[in-house]
Formats: sequence, structure tokens, C-alpha cells
Amino acid sequence: MSLPHARQEIPAPLGLLAELTHRCPLACPYCSNPIDLEERGGELDAGTWFRVFREAAAMGVLQVHLSGGEPASRRDLVEIVAFAREAGLYTNLITSAIGIDARRLARLQRAGLDHVQLSLQDVDAACADRIAGYPGAHTRKLDFARSVVGLGLALTVNAVIHRSNIDRVAALVETAASLGAGRVEIAHAQYYGWALRNRAALMPTREQVEHAMREMESLRPHYHGRLVIDLVIPDYYARRPKACVGGWGRRSLNVTPSGRVLPCHAAETIPGLQFWSVRDRPLDEIWRDSPAFRAFRGTDWMAAPCRSCEWRAIDYGGCRCQAMAIAGDAAATDPACELSPHHARMRALAEQASSGADERYVYRGRTTAIPAH
Ligand code: SF4
Ligand code: FES
Repeated sequence: MSLPHARQEIPAPLGLLAELTHRCPLACPYCSNPIDLEERGGELDAGTWFRVFREAAAMGVLQVHLSGGEPASRRDLVEIVAFAREAGLYTNLITSAIGIDARRLARLQRAGLDHVQLSLQDVDAACADRIAGYPGAHTRKLDFARSVVGLGLALTVNAVIHRSNIDRVAALVETAASLGAGRVEIAHAQYYGWALRNRAALMPTREQVEHAMREMESLRPHYHGRLVIDLVIPDYYARRPKACVGGWGRRSLNVTPSGRVLPCHAAETIPGLQFWSVRDRPLDEIWRDSPAFRAFRGTDWMAAPCRSCEWRAIDYGGCRCQAMAIAGDAAATDPACELSPHHARMRALAEQASSGADERYVYRGRTTAIPAH
């Protein structure tokens, strides 16, 4: 464990991910929520969220991402949005659209909602509903997106990509454009938690990934000036890791439905980390001093090869949760890096997972594997 950081060395966070609830009508097999979902009875009330938002704003946080589960599962979502606005935060609602009709959306806008991030599972309704584990979801999402744009709210479409939809990335981008989105995020599934459990059913082949990347690059000039396209390729086929969460404890923090504060959404997959709660301490104390945030902040904790690498203050050694999942050591170099001794094994895992015939999903929150086709 490193020595306590001097206060001035710790940057101010920019973003707060507020997981208002883990409840969700959908059951996507790559859900970023933990395997052990938190119960409704333990959720923070709106008043506590208001205090957290005020504390976050005082620390320098600019944006709050209201997420879940499905945040619309909270009956007091309008009140929570109003509190976020009153605290002076830019409010982004990350939603599946289920549970928000036109009237509720208008109330959210009046409460101060700035931006909506809508997930699409696919362009084909039957495929999309199967991935979501919720019949009829896709059609409702398209109607919702039109309402968002009709009200003048900013819209981002988010699509998690995996083996069964990666061949339709161009159509997903076109759908986002036709809905009036200003941004589309085409992000590959991240293999922790539920996605790790479903890796054999989700992993695309290398050929699929390369084809999708070429296709995306050729699309960019076509949409230039009217749609921002963000592409996140699967780490398993990368040569360098991404600076996950912008570097551990540098840019953002997550608050779980019950108030535990995490450096990233998957941090609970790392054994031995101690997470403090907003129920017990102010947010700035947690950000500054909690053992979980201090564990991998900066570069002092790094071992070889990261310790002497010229990229260490750029990618911060990649993703701690992926190092845990693949190398069995959260302090190891992210195996997505070709300098990691585990890099070849990660590639082999990708080849193996993508070549299998296993097309069954274990849906989030459900225990039975269901055929994907
Ligand atoms: Fe990044 Fe570490 Fe790889 Fe260097 S060795 S590129 S710091 S992950
Ligand atoms: Fe936890 Fe990358 S998901 S550090």
C-alpha cells in the first residue's frame, strides 16, 4: 500500500456515475452491474443523493450520469434530476427508455435534464429484444428517441457490440443518425461481471472486429459534422490498453445504489478492496483517503513493465479489473498490453471464446442459460 497522498497531488473528479438502482426490466447478458445485485431496500433516498450531488459539485464535478440498472425504476427520478440541477451539475440520464413515457420525459426536462443516453441492442427488433431479454423493448426505444429529440434534448445512442450484432455496426450508426442523435457510441462489451460470465457467447472473431473497424473508419467522413462516432474496440484484440476510467481515482467516481463509492463500476470484482460509503463520510474524504481509491491512484503502485514505461502516465497501466480477471492480480499490467506476460494468453482466450458454438446467454439477474438463436 502506498503512503497517503498529499492533498494537492489528487486531481478533482469531473464526473459522477450515480447508480440510482440496480433494478431493471431488461436483462442484458453484458450488464455492467455486479453479479450480486443490490436490493431496493438498501437504496439511498433522494435527499441523500441531493447531499452527494452538492458535495460532488463542491469538489469540482461537472456532470452526473444518472444510471442503474434502469434509473426510471425509481419513482422519485424527477425529484432526483431536480436535485442534480439545483446542485449545479450537468445531468445525463442513461436509460433503456422502459418506464419513461412522453409525459414523464417532459417532467424530467422541466426538472432540468440536459442530455439522454439511450441504449440500443441491435437494429433488428427481434434480435434486439432477444439480447435485452424483453419483448417489445426495441420499438419503445425508437419511439422514446423521437420524443427526446422532439423536445430538443441532446441524445446519444449507445450500442454495446458483441458477436451477434457486430456485423451491423453501420446500420446501428445509420439508425442513430436517422433518430437525430448527436453522438453514437459503439463500444465493445467489457468482460467483467455478467459479460465475463457470457464471454463464450459474446466474443466476436478477429475477422469480425477488423471488418467492423474498417467499416467504421469509412463511415466517419460520411457523418462528419452531423454525428460524432465513438468506437471502442475489444481489449482482447488490442495491442495497447485504454486508460480505463481515465486512470484510477483521477477523473470519476461511482456511487452504488446503497452508497458505496467505487473507482470504477467493476471495482468490486477486485478482492480485498475496502469501499467507503456516503452514508458514513463526505464524498471528498472518500475520494481523497479511501483505501480503494488510494490503491491504484497515480503510478507509484506499478510494477514492471509499467513502472518504467513511457506510456504509464497516459494509460495508467490499463484496466485494473481486467488485470484481475485475466492475470489474477489487479496490480499487474493490463493483459491488453502487448508488453504484458499475459497478453498472448488473452489473445488465446479471445480466439477460443469466439470459435465456440456456445450461443447461450446467461441473462443478468437470471440463472438459466437461454439459447441466443
Ligand atoms: Fe501501458 Fe504498462 Fe503497457 Fe506501458 S507497459 S503501455 S504503461 S500497460
Ligand atoms: Fe475497473 Fe477498468 S473496469 S479499472
